[in-house]
Amino acid sequence: MLICSTKAEVSYDHKALIINGQRRILLSGSIHYPRSTPEMWPDLVKKAKEGGLDVIQTYVFWNGHEPSPGQYYFEDRYDLVKFIKVVQQAGLYVSLRIGPYVCAEWNFGGLPVWLKYVPGIVFRTDNEPFKIAMQKFTKKIVDMMKQEKLFETQGGPIILSQIENEFGPMEWEIGSAGKAYSKWTAQIALGLSTGVPWIMCKQEDAPYPIINTCNGFYCEGFKPNSVNQPQMWTENWTGWFTEFGGPLPNRPVEDLAYSVARFIQNGGSFMNYYMYHGGTNFDRTSGVFVGTSYDYDAPLDEYGLLREPKYSHLKELHKVIKLCEPALVSADPTITWLGDKQEAHVFNSKTSCAAFLSNYDPIYATRVMFRGFPYDLPAWSVSILPDCKTEYHNTAKIRVPSIFMKMVPTRTRFSWESYHEEIPSSYDVGTFAKDGLVEQISMTRDKTDYFWYLADITISSDEKFLKTGVDPLLTICSAGHALHVFVNGQLAGTSYGALSNSKFTFSQKIKLRVGINKLALLSTAVGLPNAGVHYETWNTGVLGPATLYGVNSGTWDMSKWKWSYKIGTKGEALSLHTVTGSSSVEWIKGSFVAKKQPLIWYKSYFDTPVGNEPLALDMNTMGKGQVWVNGHNIGRHWPAYKARGNCSRCNYGGIYNEKKCLSNCGQASQRWYHVPRSWLKPYGNLVVVFEEWGGDPSGISIVERTNK
Ligand code: GAL
Repeated sequence: MLICSTKAEVSYDHKALIINGQRRILLSGSIHYPRSTPEMWPDLVKKAKEGGLDVIQTYVFWNGHEPSPGQYYFEDRYDLVKFIKVVQQAGLYVSLRIGPYVCAEWNFGGLPVWLKYVPGIVFRTDNEPFKIAMQKFTKKIVDMMKQEKLFETQGGPIILSQIENEFGPMEWEIGSAGKAYSKWTAQIALGLSTGVPWIMCKQEDAPYPIINTCNGFYCEGFKPNSVNQPQMWTENWTGWFTEFGGPLPNRPVEDLAYSVARFIQNGGSFMNYYMYHGGTNFDRTSGVFVGTSYDYDAPLDEYGLLREPKYSHLKELHKVIKLCEPALVSADPTITWLGDKQEAHVFNSKTSCAAFLSNYDPIYATRVMFRGFPYDLPAWSVSILPDCKTEYHNTAKIRVPSIFMKMVPTRTRFSWESYHEEIPSSYDVGTFAKDGLVEQISMTRDKTDYFWYLADITISSDEKFLKTGVDPLLTICSAGHALHVFVNGQLAGTSYGALSNSKFTFSQKIKLRVGINKLALLSTAVGLPNAGVHYETWNTGVLGPATLYGVNSGTWDMSKWKWSYKIGTKGEALSLHTVTGSSSVEWIKGSFVAKKQPLIWYKSYFDTPVGNEPLALDMNTMGKGQVWVNGHNIGRHWPAYKARGNCSRCNYGGIYNEKKCLSNCGQASQRWYHVPRSWLKPYGNLVVVFEEWGGDPSGISIVERTNK
């Protein structure tokens, strides 16, 4: 395709970004490239364009691009340049949030885990080792964009770039070192001279000319740092993310559209939906306790399909805002009260007039009079009159049909085979011993979710009459995230934390015999934290206390014992998830296939269902683990974690504090797991499941997402 690129200046004034000499009202949407496949990108971007967007916004994911120091990766889902070119080919702009700290419910907030182990490093503060690494990566990205001529001034689509992410609140907490760091980030950003404006979101002291931008459910009251800067909204949350153990959040489109209209009527000129397409946290890319689905209740659902009526209602809104653009960019609004909780914002220029009539009452609809005519305003809504007369759109009047997508089973059948993962023994190759309990990530470096803690509990014959006459109580405190406790090869129990608190305690009576008892703790990480003050210092794994209570000789403190450790599972070492690795072991077939047992690998082959509908695995009968299809990790599954929370309230209308509604309480937080069609061949696809906890694979099915 021929791309007609024109080099244009990007600047701004108090009203708007100015591209090629023209003030613009820009509607933008976040699509994070690694959260879908390159095969999906053109369709997602096309739908975003048809939905009325001008800009695609994405973060840059450092830990995806630099998996080990100096080793860069820009292929496949991490092909940033290709993604930007897809957007360019569609004729849209790009807002590039380089960060490189990104938050984003992404593993470790986007920072590489190896970075934590650079001597003397402290993240996101006035710390030399951190600043050196951050500057190097930021420069690398900017240079790459320049080399590919991707900035607007070079004829490319990038009109904005962001440094850091929501550092303002952090700065308040950490004080002067934070202040120095934020000043420094601003300086290095400006020094990279991209030719397009830099933004910093939630950064009230962002130095001029860097623009401070707003993130939130509502941003109508937001003001940038300088009167010479436009009002920009980098994250208008279209819903929210799903956490394991949490219900499904959604944000009604009436509320979302209302927030957009209020922002625009107050002079806002750049608004980005976070997310427009949320997608999937494939592999082990999600932040701590974040679900594999990152659907976000976005206008394009996880699978890239239109979510209706959200998508089309917003599309209508966008069209009408565009009709108002000439008036919006040339006049400041005149505001008048039409009633107690009703206002008119009128943009009147020599050649155009646009009016926004709003009803802030969250409960009552009302009729207002404007320029001698009556207008009916539903509760919590804005009517838009691009000619100051005719209502083209009201944010709460939905004229497009809802479409309910279903997950429909296909005829695909599996024939499962199983393989028992072994509990390691302290003599195994790769096992090592240490005094006391060790932190998990310092050992695994996050190359695997799994870390074994092994100890022998020796009960002498004098101890056999246990103190209380009942089984002794084993208490293990873990810093996170989940733990399976095995005693003499049997699963004694499982405990886990939650996003709100990843720490938990396993406390249960266990059966011991006289002699040596084998204690094996499988500690599993479920993503690393992505937000919070110095989140890089938060621990994972069993750090104690660990005690055994109820033996004759008193309570045993096991945390000082010599423990044996093993990184990862045997199945991982054998690469059982790959086509070659999976044929390196004997699998059990037929009626002997393991069911409802912990630590089982399953494999099966399947043919791809015909058609174009997106596909998913229904994992509802399974417990917790990971799934691979043709060697691609489709993510962590954890349907056994049921959604806790209160689904009965929906705070639409701003009545409650949380600006979202919840559903699915009591059900699996995530039941379906996206399998991109581009990862499949017509016949003989290999699916491998590692089930840590116990599940029934006969309940797994391939479903298609459809409204039929
Ligand atoms: C914001 C953050 C985003 C994302 C969002 C919640 O505070 O900037 O990266 O984490 O919250 O989805």
